[in-house]
Amino acid sequence: MGMKSVPLTLAAAVAAATAATARAEEIRIETARTAIVLDAKQGKEVGWLYWGAKADEPAQKRWRGPLLSCFGGWAEWDPALRVTHADGSLTTELAFAGCERQTLDANRTRTTLILKDPLYPLTVRVAFTAYAKEDVITQQVTLTHQEPGDITVHAMASTAPTLPEGDWWLTSFQNRFLDNWPNEMHVYEERLSPGTKRLANYRSTRSAYFENPAVLISQGPAQEEAGEVYGIAVAWTGNWEIDLAMDTGRAVRAKAGMAALAADYKLPPDTPYVSPEAILTHSSAGKGQISRNLHDYARNYVLVDGDKPNPILLNSWEGVYFTFDEAKIKEMIKDAAEMGLELFVLDDGWFGNGEYARDAANAGLGDWQVNAKKLPCGLQGLADYAKSLGIRFGLWVELEMVNPKSALAKAHPEWVVKSGKREILQGRSQWLLDLTNPAVQDFVVETFDRILREAPGISYIKWDANRTVANVGSGYLPKDRQANFWYDYARGLYSVYARIRERHPHLQMQVCASGGGRVDYGALAYHNEFWTSDNTSAIRRIYIQWGTSHFYPAKAMAAHFSRSGVGNPLKEPFPASFRLHVALSGRFGFELQPSHLTEQERKTAEAGIRAAKDYIRDIVQFGDLYRLHSPYLRDGYAALSYVAKDKSQALVFAYSLDTAYDKGPLRLRLAGLDPAKTYAIEEVLTPDGRKPLAVSGQKRAGADLMREGLTLPIAKLYDNCILRLRAL
Ligand code: GLA
Repeated sequence: MGMKSVPLTLAAAVAAATAATARAEEIRIETARTAIVLDAKQGKEVGWLYWGAKADEPAQKRWRGPLLSCFGGWAEWDPALRVTHADGSLTTELAFAGCERQTLDANRTRTTLILKDPLYPLTVRVAFTAYAKEDVITQQVTLTHQEPGDITVHAMASTAPTLPEGDWWLTSFQNRFLDNWPNEMHVYEERLSPGTKRLANYRSTRSAYFENPAVLISQGPAQEEAGEVYGIAVAWTGNWEIDLAMDTGRAVRAKAGMAALAADYKLPPDTPYVSPEAILTHSSAGKGQISRNLHDYARNYVLVDGDKPNPILLNSWEGVYFTFDEAKIKEMIKDAAEMGLELFVLDDGWFGNGEYARDAANAGLGDWQVNAKKLPCGLQGLADYAKSLGIRFGLWVELEMVNPKSALAKAHPEWVVKSGKREILQGRSQWLLDLTNPAVQDFVVETFDRILREAPGISYIKWDANRTVANVGSGYLPKDRQANFWYDYARGLYSVYARIRERHPHLQMQVCASGGGRVDYGALAYHNEFWTSDNTSAIRRIYIQWGTSHFYPAKAMAAHFSRSGVGNPLKEPFPASFRLHVALSGRFGFELQPSHLTEQERKTAEAGIRAAKDYIRDIVQFGDLYRLHSPYLRDGYAALSYVAKDKSQALVFAYSLDTAYDKGPLRLRLAGLDPAKTYAIEEVLTPDGRKPLAVSGQKRAGADLMREGLTLPIAKLYDNCILRLRAL
């Protein structure tokens, strides 16, 4: 239910809605290349018949499993829907009662199945939205009832497709901590066996920090450009679960949606209870196609201004942390402008006064007034200064949080998430505000608005959330509705985001939660981009960005050139060009104090900024990604490429990661080119001290580059190259 769903609903209202027959037997939901086929007989349970490529669809389809299994009947499945009715009954049955079809526009159709319990006034609507060109189908479940009192919803999944028997493998994306640093979206692959494998987040606010709400399910280990792969993501900035249940016949049911843990929801009559959207996509040509489908979907339908380039920025965090004053920030802004950057973002540390000054993480959150001692010219003063130098100004906020050491915590202790008299645990010295409470929602929206009113020169916001829920409880929710917290918090957060977006539709916003903690399709619908990880080490980023790219586009994936050397056995920052190239392969930016750059680093950085503006940004942010050589092969290399949509240009990024004893040059077959075109190859931004590679200057046919490939002698530790290909 992102930003872009708003105009969509309007479009739906005017579109010619073809009211479909309630007697349908087979309901088809189709994209250009894929289809979901459901078995829908009046008065009967609806079932999955097929999900996959239209080209492979069998003539005789079998019932694979229920669309939405309920607790009741033979209760063979861990139910996708479990409810206690107002009269105390534990069982539910859902029978097909009708189907509505809407044409939203030339690319999108919506198919809504209406399911009713024959014994209770309870209706479930399962809405599928098909995005034809992107081969993406979203699924969302809405429950309403008119029982004579509250019902309790214990569990309600967004989707639960059943895939036929096969050698199913799971790819999941989880944070792997190394050297005490996070590494979000580390790729884990395993063969499923009978039983249930669960991925989940029970920490609410950081929905994607430890595990990302996204999985690939493939026949055999997922390959890049071959083989059958399914992708499922849950668009939810809260507690979620994805269960892969394999039976002894090796059929798999993938149930995905909100988590059921301690979330028994008391639902009054006539109140819709709405699941997150599940995002489904299928490829019969490998996981690379899954990624390209989702990247298009994200750019076309999810991200705010997904069709506009994101700026090349400098963020102050790793450069100065909390320790700065006006002179220092102005110097950074000046350096950023001189380097050719487009935007300066002032991170944490700018607010709180007196004893609550934000000079460290232990004070100030909640007191969103500029620190007059550090920044006497105020935020607008900084924005004006940036503008006078031709660049934009952005700001960090973390409005869901409060430090016990703050005026806000003293004024509104009732706004803090807490469980009665139990200790309110601190995470990063902070407490969480209770967004289930409309007064807190108003406070956050109004504070946000006031900051922008006072400093209208701010054109970019980084929205952070640095702690999770502990000792859950709400002073706002009634005693018998404490378990409503998880759902109401996430809905409260979305309502805040939506209100902010209504007032500031084109403000650029980055979502962050201690790094990639909110890289989920729910939060992304209100943002232009995300902070991928607090780990800015180039070598770690190669893996983090590799994993992230499976579900999320480079356009939104902030990748900053920093001075971090984490993971470098040489215990120093990586070579400048290595750091530069890794950052250029995402949404390029900087995270450092420019005055700390050596002359050589600065030269390298400035050349990168020029190239980014000139041609790299366009191809990376709007092209098609092809992952060419996985770092997980552990042969000392990684490589990926972006190909412009019209295939007239491409960029190849290749990195040398370590020195295996048997390491030869990198042999790299390209992908996604036009086989009939001839491409001129040029090495750009050649690392200092190395001659351009021999391939630079060659002209080769696309077919040849994809079949024979290139030999790249970049075996030396941390050598790397960017090749620019232009069709002649
Ligand atoms: C989190 C973010 C960082 C930075 C700090 C500021 O850790 O992920 O990028 O903004 O907070 O406190």
